[in-house]
Amino acid sequence: MAPRKPERILIVDDEADIAAILKLHLEDSGYITAWAGNGQAALQMLNDGAYSLAIMDVKMPGISGVEALKQIREAGLDVAVIMMTAHGSEDLVVECMKSGAVDYVCKPFSLDDMLQRVKRAVANRQMVLRKNRLEREKEDFFFMLSHDLKNPITAVIGSIDIMREGRLGPVNVEQAEYLQSAIESCNEIVAMIDNLLDVQRFEAGRMPVVIRPYRPAEIAAAAVERFSKAAEYEGVELSLETDGDTTEVAVDRNLMARVVANLLVNAIKFTPAGGNIKLSCRCVRSTKAHRIRIPVYCVPPAGFANLQCFVCISVSDSGNGIPHEHLDHIFERYTQSHNAIGRERGGAGLGLAFCKMAVESFNGIIWAESEAGLGSEFIILLPCYPGTSRCEKFPSEEQS
Ligand SMILES: Nc1ncnc2c1ncn2[C@@H]1O[C@H](COP(=O)(O)OP(=O)(O)OP(=O)(O)O)[C@@H](O)[C@H]1O
Ligand SMILES: [Mg+2]
Repeated sequence: MAPRKPERILIVDDEADIAAILKLHLEDSGYITAWAGNGQAALQMLNDGAYSLAIMDVKMPGISGVEALKQIREAGLDVAVIMMTAHGSEDLVVECMKSGAVDYVCKPFSLDDMLQRVKRAVANRQMVLRKNRLEREKEDFFFMLSHDLKNPITAVIGSIDIMREGRLGPVNVEQAEYLQSAIESCNEIVAMIDNLLDVQRFEAGRMPVVIRPYRPAEIAAAAVERFSKAAEYEGVELSLETDGDTTEVAVDRNLMARVVANLLVNAIKFTPAGGNIKLSCRCVRSTKAHRIRIPVYCVPPAGFANLQCFVCISVSDSGNGIPHEHLDHIFERYTQSHNAIGRERGGAGLGLAFCKMAVESFNGIIWAESEAGLGSEFIILLPCYPGTSRCEKFPSEEQS
């Protein structure tokens, strides 16, 4: 590894004697230093970004140290600043720290104390720079995932599909099955990349969510149609149960469809052949919804308890189930329940983390109920879109 370049420090003080002593002491400790006699000169010298730290006197002719500090921050200059003054007051310290100083020293100061503060400020800045670099690398990685990996896989899926459809020559049933299975594996990778990117976007607060009223029953019906082939291929029965209700919910259609898709993919993955999966979608009055056991780890958004009715979307399966102690953790990123089938069937443990973030962005809640060996049920409660629910129109009517 190349030796680290010495850090450059700018001493900004109109008192040349103090600056000279400080300069000598810091240079003895291996720093490269320079001196500016006033704030204006300091701003010019800091402009080229060569300094990692400025030690700045508050009281100087021309612009004050505090003003210079504010201008440094306004200009977005990447330099840590330690303020020093002979006339300290609590208000001044607060103003300096609020304006972006990393430390504050009262004159007269001991040179050793100043050296310790310099070392600390330089180390903290290096840590921030390292963190920012890692953050940038992470963003580059996600950019690479979405463009350099996802796009070619999508092209591979398209090509295999053309073959599977027999457009490049006859394909027998067995070959078509193999090609279909290749497409499904590629789709799994695409879904995993999508979950990874979206969890990252949600966490960075940069997820574009387009909320509009939709009928959840329509989203559910489309999902069942989409996954009926995969369920059949795995030998499990997939059914849809809706109450014909026209209640709407305020969601991002694409995200909501992916939430349901993730739950169905899981149900298919964790239900052995011969089992069954039910996607159900119904409107429930709040009195009834409260009778549904919302677990303590599931924190509803503000005002949720005052709502009159909800849409309840649930995916239940007759699969292996999830041990009780894992039920809240499976919604965390990269968490998989210790479940032999889960490990065999792969996955990153991101699907449910994505579901939770998406459902919460619609002001809803999601949780799981399960008994190991007796199947699982994933339940989503979403507020009804105002004016579209039967419960609101007929408040006395009890619905299932
Ligand atoms: N229907 C289910 N039956 C049994 N276990 C489940 C079910 N759904 C989820 N799990 C458990 O919860 C874990 C987390 O699910 P999640 O969807 O987040 O991750 P994954 O399916 O393992 O991977 P990914 O979704 O990223 O491909 C699973 O690994 C599994 O252990
Ligand atoms: Mg999953």
